Amino acid sequence: MKQRILTGDRPTAPLHIGHYVGSLRNRVALQHDYDTFVLLADVQALTDNFEHPQKIRDNVMEVMLDYLAVGLDPHSATFVLQSQIPEIAELTIFFLNLVTTSHLRQNPTVKTEIAQKGYGESVPAGFFIYPVSQAADITAFGAHLVPVGDDQLPMIEQTVEIVRRFNRLYAPVLTEPKALVGEVPRLPGLDGKTKMSKSMGNAIFLSDSLDEIARKVSGMYTDPNHLKVDDPGEVEGNPVFAYLEAFDPDRQHVQALKDHYGRGGLGDVKVKRYLLEVLDAVLSPIRVRRTEYVQHLELVETALKEGTQRGREVAGQTVQMVREAMKLNYFGPS
Ligand code: TRP
Repeated sequence: MKQRILTGDRPTAPLHIGHYVGSLRNRVALQHDYDTFVLLADVQALTDNFEHPQKIRDNVMEVMLDYLAVGLDPHSATFVLQSQIPEIAELTIFFLNLVTTSHLRQNPTVKTEIAQKGYGESVPAGFFIYPVSQAADITAFGAHLVPVGDDQLPMIEQTVEIVRRFNRLYAPVLTEPKALVGEVPRLPGLDGKTKMSKSMGNAIFLSDSLDEIARKVSGMYTDPNHLKVDDPGEVEGNPVFAYLEAFDPDRQHVQALKDHYGRGGLGDVKVKRYLLEVLDAVLSPIRVRRTEYVQHLELVETALKEGTQRGREVAGQTVQMVREAMKLNYFGPS
């Protein structure tokens, strides 16, 4: 039997090219080697969007379209809608006994998010404990491997701790997962400052038109001291070169461009024009596939519905083992 992959995203916005290099590219590459589950984490998305349920609802379809557009194949990947799997909520409650609030407070990704969102001391409890529900996501499907961006590593560590604790305490029924981070773990935003995200307004979305991408690329941050073409330019911290490294399969050419830029004599306009070509080579087939699926939304809905049904069966088996291990199997199998 194939080993399992579980990954997922919060459907709060369409996916961008940072998701692509961090995780989606790995998921597509591995979907035939592993039994791949892809979770649309709408319950987790609500933990910091509970006032905006319609936003999450709308983005479930957008993210499904992104998944299919990048080449996840519904015949090999199982798409699961988190809110329709109550077993995940049940596991979350059991796992909460196995972690401490002080440990949760130290999660670096959650810490960063709390600061970004300006919660201060008033962190919604559901948001605060989402790493535990993510451990439930991963273990419900018995995942061996979790392809993610590097900001998700603390969640996988938390999951491993819960799995070990559970298995030692009750019975060895949970699978210990490993993270798999993309070759480019973190893509900078168009502004070159923070990582790419919708909320920072510095993202290129997989669903952007060529015109939009052209506009975004031409406005990208580059070396501010590279005023004249002949000036030597700085490659380090320059997102234009970070994107070339992430997307151009011709490594030698990228190296030659970097050398030329560093020496001076290579203008920003020219490099950006080349970057646009490189991005379009990757993104135009994705855009075409997206358009095809937009014309067949019934296929998208079926993939999500059938995937979720299968997901529920798998999660149900896990919960049954967990209940047995925890002495909660009172009235036999339901
Ligand atoms: N926390 C992830 C993110 O913000 C989304 C997610 C939810 C996830 N459940 C998961 C990722 C399980 C990997 C595995 O992108």
